[in-house]
Amino acid sequence: MKVGVVGLGAMGAGIAQLCVEAGLETVGREVTAELGEKARGRIDHFLTRKVEKGQLESYDISLLTTTTELSDLAGCDLVIEAIVEELGPKQELFAELERVCGPDTVLATNTSALSVTEIASATEQPERVVGMHFFNPAPLMPLVEIVRAERSSDEAFEQAFALGEALGKHPIRCHDTPGFVVNRVLIPLLNDCVRVLDEARVSIEDLDAGMKHGAGWPMGPCELLDLVGLDVHVHASEALWEKLREPRFAPPARLVAMANAGLLGRKSGRGFYTYSA
Ligand code: 3HC
Repeated sequence: MKVGVVGLGAMGAGIAQLCVEAGLETVGREVTAELGEKARGRIDHFLTRKVEKGQLESYDISLLTTTTELSDLAGCDLVIEAIVEELGPKQELFAELERVCGPDTVLATNTSALSVTEIASATEQPERVVGMHFFNPAPLMPLVEIVRAERSSDEAFEQAFALGEALGKHPIRCHDTPGFVVNRVLIPLLNDCVRVLDEARVSIEDLDAGMKHGAGWPMGPCELLDLVGLDVHVHASEALWEKLREPRFAPPARLVAMANAGLLGRKSGRGFYTYSA
């Protein structure tokens, strides 16, 4: 099986890493050769660490080729899109992917909060479009949501499910509703956590300790927001707020201000916490 990944940012590189680890021929597409090389280096680093720690016997980095040309995805059985979370660019990409890939290629989007059906509507064959929603960090989080859009075919859906299993993930099946399963619950919950920061006048550290030690979360909500990226969370939160119009989905002012100020979390070196490079 040959898999294509479009966009090798944090999520796309994580997905490509899983493909290489599973022994699949993988083509990763980035907009510049430098970004492709950077992702390749990151993937090589994490897989080398896994081998050193005895978690993986070996891997073959030559399974991964990076390219700037979409046409290099022509021979892929399934392509996963992980580009910017904007409907327009995703629709353009899917229309283009449909032109370059064979008629049997399944086209999957890793969108967190956009509608898979709306993305699929830009194609001539929406039957081949599904959602494959991975969680951050993709190589470590076991879940992948396999999302059935209004016109997804059973074949495309099951192929995406089978790939999720082949990547060692725990796939779950769901329909294309705003936020699917996990983000429908997690995004308003994280917003509540941030509101509690102000309401209960609790410190960032104590709120995190509260949710870790009182609710069994693996990391506190502020640590998690820093990991996901405040810009990513605010954007997803706004997309769900637009669709669902429930106040809890609207991003809290404090988060919007932080995102606007460039306090994005780990990736910018500072969010709720400060990180050294
Ligand atoms: N790829 C590969 N390996 C990675 C990695 C990555 N992206 N990031 C970290 N690692 C490595 C680390 O380097 C470390 O290896 P090392 O021993 O060589 O340093 C190894 O993985 C383990 O890392 P940690 O020690 O940090 O692992 P933990 O046991 O602490 O677990 C965690 C980390 C899995 C992130 C855990 O804290 C957790 O489950 N947190 C919750 C995360 C979560 O909820 N994610 C969902 C976010 S919501 C989302 O994604 C939806 C989206 O639509 C917005």
